[in-house]
Amino acid sequence: MLQVENLVLTVVDPDTGARTEILHGNSFALAQGEALGLVGESGSGKSMTLKCILGIEPAGAKVEGRIVLDGTELLSARGEQLRRVRAEQLALIAQNPHGALNPVLPVGRFLVEGMSDARSLGRAEAERRAAELLRQVGITDTERVLASYPHQLSGGMLQRVVIAGAISGEPRLLLADEPTTALDVTTQAEVVAILDEMRREHGLSMIFVTHDLDLAAAVCDRLAVMKDGEILEVGTPEEIRDRPRTEYARALMAARPLLYPAGHAPAGLPDAPESGRDAAPRPQHPEEAEA
Ligand SMILES: Nc1ncnc2c1ncn2[C@@H]1O[C@H](COP(=O)(O)OP(=O)(O)O)[C@@H](O)[C@H]1O
Ligand SMILES: [Mg+2]
Repeated sequence: MLQVENLVLTVVDPDTGARTEILHGNSFALAQGEALGLVGESGSGKSMTLKCILGIEPAGAKVEGRIVLDGTELLSARGEQLRRVRAEQLALIAQNPHGALNPVLPVGRFLVEGMSDARSLGRAEAERRAAELLRQVGITDTERVLASYPHQLSGGMLQRVVIAGAISGEPRLLLADEPTTALDVTTQAEVVAILDEMRREHGLSMIFVTHDLDLAAAVCDRLAVMKDGEILEVGTPEEIRDRPRTEYARALMAARPLLYPAGHAPAGLPDAPESGRDAAPRPQHPEEAEA
């Protein structure tokens, strides 16, 4: 459903006019319903890749190559056509949910205003739908949340609201840029689970950007490993774990030993700490003692 071919992004320094190539000709494709992880260290060009897809690259930047979404070439699409594709097909979930929400509106208004047919729905029906959206992302006290302003809610709650808003537009492709990085670990896991559920339920494709290889491997069907503006390799989490083709992917894996089940680390790399954990005394359940 998405093909990115030879994507090159060049930015121009407004003061000196100096050009810097940020993305160096990257290609990848995404199938309907697939989740692709863009994984790499900070500054590797993950967010810029999403910005190119969304058409929100920095002012003066030049984007070359092809980005084809369901047959529409986005880089040659202009104005109204591009705006419509973006509004109808794409939804961005960013690291900081505050950026997506209007601080002076209760979140119920945010959700209602995001509904494309809000005008024809009527107030009661729009509000009923907003509450239903919140239930879909695991929020039960919908009345309180709908009436709350963003500053009254936790980061995890806000990110759920943003996801609910994203789903309401019935997009085809979710672009999630470090959507859980600002959250504590428990909330991270909950938000990831909701994203995953929404994706499956609505048959959405997703590009999931993260610096966390473990997280990407858990969430995504395939991973693209990025470094310094270049996609070094693309493969399933298993392929990248068991047969990394580049030194960099190997090093990334070495830095995340939890991905290796005990005894399965490639030669020269340490085993996962699991073996150590298993060896340590821990309370046993009766079923485990039996097994
Ligand atoms: N507005 C901008 N103008 C010019 N260069 C930028 C801008 N934002 C980021 N960059 C540069 O682009 C590169 C990739 O950044 P980014 O895509 O944000 O990385 P990541 O999301 O992987 O951390 C970095 O070298 C960064 O310094
Ligand atoms: Mg980024």
